[in-house]
Amino acid sequence: MAKVDVADQVLEFYSESIPQHVGIIMDGNGRWAQQKGMPRVYGHKKGVDAVREAVKFSRKVGIKSLTLFAFSSENWKRPEEEVSGLMELFMLVLTREVKTLHKNNVRLKIVGDLDGFSKSIQDKVASAHQLTQDNTGLILNVAANYGGRWDIVQATKVLAEKVKSNELNSADITEDVFDSFTSFSDQPLLDLMIRTGGEMRISNFLLWQAAYAELYFTPLFWPDFKDIAFAQAIEFFAGTERRFGLTGEQVKS
Ligand code: IPE
Ligand code: IPE
Ligand code: MG
Repeated sequence: MAKVDVADQVLEFYSESIPQHVGIIMDGNGRWAQQKGMPRVYGHKKGVDAVREAVKFSRKVGIKSLTLFAFSSENWKRPEEEVSGLMELFMLVLTREVKTLHKNNVRLKIVGDLDGFSKSIQDKVASAHQLTQDNTGLILNVAANYGGRWDIVQATKVLAEKVKSNELNSADITEDVFDSFTSFSDQPLLDLMIRTGGEMRISNFLLWQAAYAELYFTPLFWPDFKDIAFAQAIEFFAGTERRFGLTGEQVKS
């Protein structure tokens, strides 16, 4: 019997309810590895396989933007060995995976405070951006040295400069104007935020953008998050009624 493709099944049942922008807090790599008696970095390596699978699934079901939380502003505080292991892995992935992403028409964006990274990583990021910038398929955002608070503060700094130089009047700062200076303003609104690893918190991921996202938590550790698990998250999303402040009756009419 032919193997059923999970993405095809999702399209068969939920094609009307595919989220345009999905954010994922890829948590649980460390515990996944420790459960197997392995060092935490092994979990991060296996996490890359799950990333590949999530990207493939997103492309197949037609998600427009996928934002993956890879390294938070706070993760620098981890043991030096783990931080350097993660940086090496980041470098390796940037070297190894970008060509395939490009071939698949994926536009790769590394979003976060890139100044925090080494020169070699910054160079790799710049060339990956350049190579894939005109691609028209999935936008894959990798949030690295990213924090939702950082994003709000960096937008505020740009706005403050514009007010100072009289390019902008403070009275004209609306939510839309503010939004235009945040990191994902060029992309669809965040529809669905997924967190693996069992915790129910946002951990400084997309804060501004999460205002009306649906939140989905799964106890699965990130390396175990396969396409079937992604499909379950879409099923959950398809079942939500998005009211945006209206009543259920208003939404229905
Ligand atoms: C998430 O997995 C990946 C990063 C933060 C880089 P963790 O490393 O936080 O794994 P747990 O939560 O300790 O299991
Ligand atoms: C959030 O995971 C950051 C990433 C997945 C990159 P953490 O493991 O750092 O979150 P907390 O500290 O447990 O909230
Ligand atoms: Mg964690």
